[in-house]
Amino acid sequence: MTQRKILITSALPYANGPIHLGHMLEYIQTDIWSRFQKGRGHQCYYVCADDAHGTPIMLKAQQLGITPEQMIAQTSQEHQADFAEFLIGFDNYHSTHSEENKQFASEIYTKLDQGGYIKRKTISQLYDPEKQMFLPDRFVKGDCPKCGALDQNGDSCDSCGATYSPVELKNPRSVVSGATPVLKDSEHYFFDLPAFEQMLKDWTRSGSLQDEMANKLQEWFTEGLQQWDISRDAPYFGFEIPGAPGKFFYVWLDAPIGYLASFKNYCDKTGVNFDQFWQKDSDAEVYHFIGKDIIYFHSLFWPAMLDGAGYRKPTSVYAHGFVTVNGAKMSKSRGTFIKARTYLQHLNPEYLRYYFASKLTSSITDLDLNLEDFAQKVNADLVGKVVNIASRCASFISKKFDGKLSAEVAEPALLAEFTAAGETIAESFERREFARAIREIMALADKANQYIDAKAPWVLAKNEATLAEAHVVCSMGINLFRVLMHYLKPVLPAMAKEVELFLNDELSWSTYQTALTNHSINVFKPLMQRVEMTKIEAMVEGSKENLQPTVAAPKAAETKVAPAAVSAESAIEPISETISIDDFAKLDLRVARIINAEHVEGADKLVKLQLDLGNEQRQVFAGIKSAYQPEQLIGRLTVMVANLAPRKMRFGLSEGMVMAAGPGGSDIFLLTPDDGATPGMRVK
Ligand code: MSP
Ligand code: ZN
Repeated sequence: MTQRKILITSALPYANGPIHLGHMLEYIQTDIWSRFQKGRGHQCYYVCADDAHGTPIMLKAQQLGITPEQMIAQTSQEHQADFAEFLIGFDNYHSTHSEENKQFASEIYTKLDQGGYIKRKTISQLYDPEKQMFLPDRFVKGDCPKCGALDQNGDSCDSCGATYSPVELKNPRSVVSGATPVLKDSEHYFFDLPAFEQMLKDWTRSGSLQDEMANKLQEWFTEGLQQWDISRDAPYFGFEIPGAPGKFFYVWLDAPIGYLASFKNYCDKTGVNFDQFWQKDSDAEVYHFIGKDIIYFHSLFWPAMLDGAGYRKPTSVYAHGFVTVNGAKMSKSRGTFIKARTYLQHLNPEYLRYYFASKLTSSITDLDLNLEDFAQKVNADLVGKVVNIASRCASFISKKFDGKLSAEVAEPALLAEFTAAGETIAESFERREFARAIREIMALADKANQYIDAKAPWVLAKNEATLAEAHVVCSMGINLFRVLMHYLKPVLPAMAKEVELFLNDELSWSTYQTALTNHSINVFKPLMQRVEMTKIEAMVEGSKENLQPTVAAPKAAETKVAPAAVSAESAIEPISETISIDDFAKLDLRVARIINAEHVEGADKLVKLQLDLGNEQRQVFAGIKSAYQPEQLIGRLTVMVANLAPRKMRFGLSEGMVMAAGPGGSDIFLLTPDDGATPGMRVK
């Protein structure tokens, strides 16, 4: 077998959020493939990085009151800790906010510019006059220009599905400051994607892309390729464009360049030859594993940028579908938006690696993580079938035969069947048909168990006359188990390591075909516990908890719940006089969404709220300014008294009242309904 040179990447996760189980599908898929290639003896590297630039990261750091550098350093540590515990074996993990990436971004841009592929054009965009920044689509909200639905996103309407440009929104407002955006001109830099159309068509036809992706590309060619806007104006967290002060590379320009940067960082540390992998005529293979949502960037912009700057193109880009949980999109309120960290607090990472592997194919279809099926499959396959083979055979070997396997193989034909499957299983791994590989492995596991059932070594071992037979049967069982664990090693690296200790043997593609005979093994320790439903339930509960709004100052809030000796001022206010149910029914309380919140000129306690009640809007002045910044309030749900007589105030009409608890000052706590409530619902 000739040794291939292979570079593998997974998409670079954004540095402004935690890793969740949706992400993990990708890193597990890529890691299994990378471990498989390494196991086959190829020169293979797997690199990744955090994607650290862009407006959301800049704004989130501002909100947290830290620098973007501090924020991304923190996130990078968390991401890497999550990946390490899920046994993702990166050779290198870097950041797009790195010296290497800056170098490559500026080099690639300069080459593209010299090649005539960068165009300059003045465009008009929404600008937040208060925050003094241009607003990316997702930072503008307003009413849908097609159906009028309130509080829709800058580029599409959740209510009628229309897509539009944020300038078409009615009553637009900046999500950042609440201000009404204005149109403002600015010069932007564009990458001339259409110039690469022929090259991209040839690349698409070169044969290694998934069919679904090739078809998608074909559609995009038919629709026509567009110039791609690669610049953003300050303020922006990213790299300044060489020779263009105040202009920055759009995050998606330098994100894929991060693949080069991470690999370069690795090569500089280890002496691996970078150019051998990336020069135009390279004979190395480069694969990008990605999710279906980012195909455009990886199959059009990225190969075109590489080509235009004199680098080789990826051998292929492999997209996967999205993870759903229990048949639906991951949901915070249902507790199915599960962070990697939350999972790890409750369950063994190899359960998930196995479950995903057992469902992964080479196609772009979505993958459902059904939590009951997950428990059932892991218990039935890994614990009930695979581990069971070893646990049924191992104790006899240690107790009766001094830990030594028999000198001969009981059933050479059966063993040959197990080892002969190796090449088709390898082919399935190679083609990313992991589900198929797992099916084949489990069919063999069934056979191994049937063999043991039929021979019943526990009966043979009771009788002196058949003791020797019990020895060869159990040794046979251990050998079958060894072959299967070898196949499962890319999926279950930690368990495979335990098995290597148990067997005193390395599980390797160069030795798995030769049985272990006359070989000493160690005492068997349980390799994997059953999945308990209670742990899964605890994980789901834990994920629901994540949703609880993080209180601004939890310490302060805690000290208010004073135990036993309560001081006079913090004493609980006495309950009011009893009223009848009819009195209560007079109150019309409604769920309302705060669609806008503004400071009120000349009022130091008031915030002006625009409330959406489903079929009408209200303006309310609320005395909550000492506890809330207006921008914190926009978008959230609360409860209002909807039938309170309107009150004319110095600043305008107040048409109701929002409900809050607390004594005042910074201790004001606005009510929020549970997730799922929608504007207009009556509170009874
Ligand atoms: N930063 C970009 C990628 C830049 S690559 C040069 C990005 N980051 S991400 O954090 O949003 O997503 C990282 C990867 O995880 C993407 O490939 C994305 O498709 C994948 N997934 C995110 N959510 C997912 C699911 N729910 N299911 C499966 N994959 C998902 O995109
Ligand atoms: Zn609409």
